[in-house]
Amino acid sequence: MALRLGDIAPDFTVETTEGSMSFHQWLGNGWGILFSHPKDYTPVCTTELGAVAKIKPEFDKRNVKVVAVSVDSVESHRGWVSDINETQCTTMNFPIIGDPNRTVAGLYDMIHPNADDTLTVRSVFIIGPDKKVKLMLTYPASTGRNFAEILRCVDSLQLSAKHRVATPADWKQGDDCIVSNAVKDDEADKLFPGAVRRVKPYLRYVPQPKS
Ligand code: BEZ
Repeated sequence: MALRLGDIAPDFTVETTEGSMSFHQWLGNGWGILFSHPKDYTPVCTTELGAVAKIKPEFDKRNVKVVAVSVDSVESHRGWVSDINETQCTTMNFPIIGDPNRTVAGLYDMIHPNADDTLTVRSVFIIGPDKKVKLMLTYPASTGRNFAEILRCVDSLQLSAKHRVATPADWKQGDDCIVSNAVKDDEADKLFPGAVRRVKPYLRYVPQPKS
């Protein structure tokens, strides 16, 4: 059965460009992002991995480890990395899993045969410190991902993990948040004294809680 939100992210042991990796052990107690690309030495993928390398300090700040995967070999990834560095003006700084046997692709349902029967789609899995899948995204080969959006998702998930709030459409850091639907009205005032702005009984805003 396909992986769903709230499921434990499947564990695996694989080779990467930075040596062998036991996924859960590598994640440790922090957050993680596992993302697939269809193929090494292809244009959109080259820009994507370069984009992630450039904003890696933003993931570090949020205690999020990132790892890429495709069905190419580690040797192929290693050769491609110099092209990424050269063309994207960066230095690769996170591991890429070699998955020629499709172990990870299978565990995470990254091959969608009606799109392409051999290559992984552009999947993103955000995994919490409890090793549960918190968010999944799937893009086709032709659409490069917006990694600023993925950082925004991390910010929202981490905020909701800490405080009883959700984030509205197009939310960004510093914007008002929404009191979680699970919080009863009298409890909302105790949790956020004097700060709840009620628009509807079910739509209650509060300033973003301080971390
Ligand atoms: C790309 O990254 O541009 C790409 C990858 C796989 C198939 C087609 C394009």
